[in-house]
Amino acid sequence: AGLLRSRPAAAETGAESDPTADLYPVPRNEAYQLDRAVTAEELATTYNNFYEFGSSKDVVDEAQALPLRPWTVVFDGMVEEERSVDIDTLIRAMPLEERLYRHRCVEAWSMAVPWSGFPMKALVDYARPLGSAKYVRMESFMDKEVAPGQRASWYPWPYIEGLTVAEATSELAFMVTGIYGKPVPKQNGAPLRLATPWKYGFKSTKSIVRFTFTDRRPVSFWEELQSSEYGFWANVNPEVSHPRWSQATERVLGSGERVKTLLFNGYAEQVAHLYEGMEDERLWA
Ligand code: MTE
Repeated sequence: AGLLRSRPAAAETGAESDPTADLYPVPRNEAYQLDRAVTAEELATTYNNFYEFGSSKDVVDEAQALPLRPWTVVFDGMVEEERSVDIDTLIRAMPLEERLYRHRCVEAWSMAVPWSGFPMKALVDYARPLGSAKYVRMESFMDKEVAPGQRASWYPWPYIEGLTVAEATSELAFMVTGIYGKPVPKQNGAPLRLATPWKYGFKSTKSIVRFTFTDRRPVSFWEELQSSEYGFWANVNPEVSHPRWSQATERVLGSGERVKTLLFNGYAEQVAHLYEGMEDERLWA
């Protein structure tokens, strides 16, 4: 109630003028089925977390200030050769598909979204990391002129996240370029964001400009801010509470219902093997 607002026009979100708009819709990969209804587009594209544009969920208007072109993506660190690529060249080089994924925010709300994009493994292959690289660090755009949230100096900007290379090349890690059969709008992380549906949503970095391969575990934005509450792994686990609230259930956006949260957000079959032998790690927060 009160969350739903009229959908921003395509022109307002930039979807119409997007130079890759001709690529959508992309074929759906039927291997990824949902156990619940797809969230209404109006809701998934207007109820957002994007702290660069403010700490409320209503950042659609503010996010429209983000210029999407030119947009360069850099691959550096432990790679065969450092390289930069224009986003349109990158997107056109990747095998695009649609996947229906659940999304579970650490704040205990959830949605189910048709993302368009490509396996992160294709991006890692493109970057050609050295065998000694263990982690990939992702960096979001930094521009205080357009992002009022970045003027708040108590936050450790830019937004940083990280995965192990093993996670990044596993089957579920997905680079998002579109949503609901169209280019992804700014408020959802255009032109390139991550979806790791077995982890809490804060791992899914938006509006990425840099991928750095490294042998040191990256310290993420939220971890830097509050490491007692947000760690590196952040795998979904209903039995491990956040210090300030339970993670046992989640509020399904748009349904008014609470449902039980599942281990690895229901993706244990695909990802549990990644964490075998890692019981000493703080895997769940
Ligand atoms: N990425 C950046 N750069 N800045 C953010 O504030 N918020 C994260 C994640 N990625 C965030 C971000 C959080 S907490 C969540 S739950 C998801 O984005 C929300 O994605 P959505 O707005 O598309 O639902």
